[in-house]
Amino acid sequence: MKVPFVNFPLQYRNLEKEIDSAIKSVLDRGDLILRKDVEEFEKNLASFLGVKYAIGVNSCTDAMILSLKAAGIGPGDEVITASHTFFATIEAIHHTGAKPILIDVRDDFLMDPEKIESAIDERTRAILPVHLNGRVCEMDKIMEISQKHNLIVIEDAAQSLGAKYKGKIAGSFGLAGCFSFYPAKLLGAAGDAGAVVTNDENMAEKIRLLRNHGQKPPEIVCYGETSRLDNLQAAILNAKFKYVPEWIERRREIAKMYDAGLKDIPQIKLPPQSDEKHEDVFQNYVILAQKRDELSRFLKEKGVETLIKDPIANHLHPQLGLSHFKLPLTEKLAKEVISLPMYPELTLEQIEYVIKFVKEFYE
Ligand SMILES: Cc1ncc(COP(=O)(O)O)c(C=O)c1O
Repeated sequence: MKVPFVNFPLQYRNLEKEIDSAIKSVLDRGDLILRKDVEEFEKNLASFLGVKYAIGVNSCTDAMILSLKAAGIGPGDEVITASHTFFATIEAIHHTGAKPILIDVRDDFLMDPEKIESAIDERTRAILPVHLNGRVCEMDKIMEISQKHNLIVIEDAAQSLGAKYKGKIAGSFGLAGCFSFYPAKLLGAAGDAGAVVTNDENMAEKIRLLRNHGQKPPEIVCYGETSRLDNLQAAILNAKFKYVPEWIERRREIAKMYDAGLKDIPQIKLPPQSDEKHEDVFQNYVILAQKRDELSRFLKEKGVETLIKDPIANHLHPQLGLSHFKLPLTEKLAKEVISLPMYPELTLEQIEYVIKFVKEFYE
């Protein structure tokens, strides 16, 4: 049996007619840049999240760069985030000219709110929490600290579409929330795609300008860039949007099956569990595993693909100038985390197959 880590063709086959007709309709109309499909997608996203504005951009990386810039962050400023994230978060801060200040995570892989205050100094302007793996950071504490110190909060919600913390949805806590629709995401485009969401009208207006060369015809209001969500990608995302709730439910079911099958293996630590505070969406199913690299090789031999995303912690890449940060748990996680296949199309047989060989490896 083969269990690929992602299976884009299978999802396409399941939705082939809807996706083909969405693509054809866009091409027939010649609606390629910022047309009605983008507007429809923005409405879909804003309504799903219960926020006032959603602005489609070309990626979550740009969503974060534009949000930080729109919030006035730039050279001389500092932005606090976690090193245990996809590198784009740190990169986005860097590209505004501000300095990323990296703090450690807790054992749920999320920014440790207890570490924020000691990282604040007179240059700190913002906190950029990352809702990793489909789980929202402890946002009440983070918002409380941000209010106390008058800091902006921009959320990296790339991995957490639909996840909630104390009933409130990811992306709706701070001044802006940034989403990715990269193909492997819970809602994935057929290429790059992202969005900024906000309840702040001024912020929404600035992002709309920044994504499209600062143009407010006939005026050019500011220096912007090319960072529009492609109309074609928007149409594909619209075709998929109605499946998001059932895909989230299916991911939760798969997580439960993995949990039940793997819970008695002492060499493994399961992902944090959903509880009364956290409603997770399991963008990823990440375990801590002893002999992680051997486990990955063993599973590969059996036909199961896994992902070891960051075997070197982001701040420890010498070229980046970040190695002065000392983040013990982040550095430990880099050596132990491994993601198992997680997508709604996985069959019961495939899930059981993965569990069987993880067990066999440790026996
Ligand atoms: C946590 C996190 N932040 C940011 C990004 C960047 O998203 P994009 O590829 O849409 O720029 C990703 C994408 O994988 C991510 O997982």
